[in-house]
Amino acid sequence: MRSLITLAALASLSCTTKSQTPAAVKDTTHTQPPTAVPANMSHGEAPVGTVPDSAPVDPLPPARSTQHLVKVRFEIHNTDIQIASGVRYSAWAFAGKVPGPIIRVTQGDTIDFTLINRGNLQHSMDFHAAQIAPNKFYVNVLPNDSLHYRFVAEVPGAFMYHCGTAPVAAHIANGMYGALIVDPRTPRPPAKEFVFVQSEFYLTADSTGAPRTLAWNRLLELAPDYVTFNGRASQYAEHPLKVKVNELLRLYVVNAGPNRFSSFHVVGGIFERVFVDGSTLSPLAGVQTVAVPVGGGSIFEIRLKQPGTYPFVTHAFADATKGAVGVFSAEP
Ligand code: CU
Ligand code: CU
Repeated sequence: MRSLITLAALASLSCTTKSQTPAAVKDTTHTQPPTAVPANMSHGEAPVGTVPDSAPVDPLPPARSTQHLVKVRFEIHNTDIQIASGVRYSAWAFAGKVPGPIIRVTQGDTIDFTLINRGNLQHSMDFHAAQIAPNKFYVNVLPNDSLHYRFVAEVPGAFMYHCGTAPVAAHIANGMYGALIVDPRTPRPPAKEFVFVQSEFYLTADSTGAPRTLAWNRLLELAPDYVTFNGRASQYAEHPLKVKVNELLRLYVVNAGPNRFSSFHVVGGIFERVFVDGSTLSPLAGVQTVAVPVGGGSIFEIRLKQPGTYPFVTHAFADATKGAVGVFSAEP
């Protein structure tokens, strides 16, 4: 009951705290922090909505793979995406999505990969889960051409994949990345699982209402306008993710960057175990915040002990302010 009241209070606050939403960040002339009434919640960097589980991008991973040969076929298209409410971005996308589709395989599976380039520039694909020669496989594909290769996913973890065509920072900032989960042969214990890919967007000035494009100078200055989980600012604060008190949560957090480290933290919780960069050896136990480096991915396990709303953030707070914040709504 108390959590319902808190949520209702937060929902009403959301009407009065618009100046704190990431949309406000696009005015880069601000020299003072916002002074509006803060959300009634620690780390309440974004208004918390009341509609659970219907965020624009589904954070649930696919089921564990049962085949030993997994076919993945991505077409690259230039696609307009929405990165915050009222803000569209002219992206380069794998399979029409930013981040690209979540791929899930089991240790020892062969990935049979086909890349078809329907864009107007050269692109490529670099799987961090592979151990193959970049000069042979991570090669540039011309527009309207394609590439095919296979590799065996031998090492379990939460891996990034991305276009590796130079300048890589531009290809990543324009949306060419995603997560590949490699499950260990012996399955992990059952859990409620989520995938969060953190990434940044650097925008040219808004003049006509047209989709925004990459501001290269802002990228080089490491000054993103938005930092997101799964490509859209604050979507899991607007649409909190429903979980159960005390159930095991497993979070696959991949940081696509291209520039900003993630200090991943769940407010009100302590990680039971963290598989740093997916390593199955010696997970950390009982830790509060773990860095996910750009180009890395860690697996976080946590239980939320009481009913309530628990923000998850990068504790690098400029980035949380710019949209890297979500909320778990824990129910009895
Ligand atoms: Cu590319
Ligand atoms: Cu890479």
